[in-house]
Amino acid sequence: MVQKITVVGAGIMGSGIAYTSALNGFSVVLQDIAEAGLTKAKKEIEKIASHSEEKGFITTEQKESALKRIKYESELEIAVQEAELVIEAIVENMDVKIELFQKLDRLCHPNTILATNTSSLSPTEIGAQTSRPDKVVAMHFFNPVHKMKLVEIIRGLDTSDDTVAVIKAVTEQLQKESVEVNEFPGFVTSRMNVLIGNEAMNMLMEGVASAEDIDKAIKLGLNHPMGPFEMGDLVGLDTRLRTLEYLYKTLGEKYRPSPLLVKYVKAGRLGKKSGKGVYDYREE
Ligand code: NAI
Repeated sequence: MVQKITVVGAGIMGSGIAYTSALNGFSVVLQDIAEAGLTKAKKEIEKIASHSEEKGFITTEQKESALKRIKYESELEIAVQEAELVIEAIVENMDVKIELFQKLDRLCHPNTILATNTSSLSPTEIGAQTSRPDKVVAMHFFNPVHKMKLVEIIRGLDTSDDTVAVIKAVTEQLQKESVEVNEFPGFVTSRMNVLIGNEAMNMLMEGVASAEDIDKAIKLGLNHPMGPFEMGDLVGLDTRLRTLEYLYKTLGEKYRPSPLLVKYVKAGRLGKKSGKGVYDYREE
């Protein structure tokens, strides 16, 4: 059974995965190429932990031992030295992910499982670039990781049953539910979610209703817990756009990114992480 997890990429998802893993007893190393990213991640993790403590979801003791179980490291070679499972959460770009997985393949123990948190890319394609395609799998978490109950486990063509069994056991220890998905672009959740978000962008562009009213309609009329713009701003509009571009390429016309989404990303309005997306968060 896995005890030591290294999370590569300390952005929105990497921070959440590192915190949730530490809270559930794993020893964690969080790695990022950007020192500033690690500093920000540490602050973010401390904020989530304190908030959970204040709300009574965790005790002070649980908070302190979770925070102690996370090490922050910028050198990949050092970060993965003892890893039994690596979870990658870097930028959604196949070339960059493949370059990283080739490095991980060289640096990690031969038994180490290499998982990607990709929203849509192919674990088969990533695994084929390593010498251990049987140990490469997608482990798709949801944002915010400490609250969302699901992990989508996506099996590449050569992912072994043993690897899937280990990932299922880790998911259980993280107190999450899993679904097993056969690889296909966008899996189950991203394929559906980006379509809703993109349609909402097109409606906003066409002047059908205000962003607030589109979100309100979807929440109160369709019973979604979040509106599509609240969700897009949380996910990051750049990440959303990259997923759409990939699905447009692989699944066709209905995934063509909305011109308004492209415009937001060009303007640097990426959502909560940049302070402004469809909504403005700078007053908070
Ligand atoms: P982000 O932009 O918040 O963070 C990415 C981090 O990776 C940055 O800190 C960056 O410095 C770091 N990074 C980039 N290249 C690196 C490398 N070679 N080595 C180490 N660190 C590197 O991105 P976010 O939103 O956390 O997404 C990460 C992955 O998770 C993407 O594949 C995305 O599609 C997926 N994902 C995102 C979700 C979301 O709601 N944002 C939900 C589920 C999956």
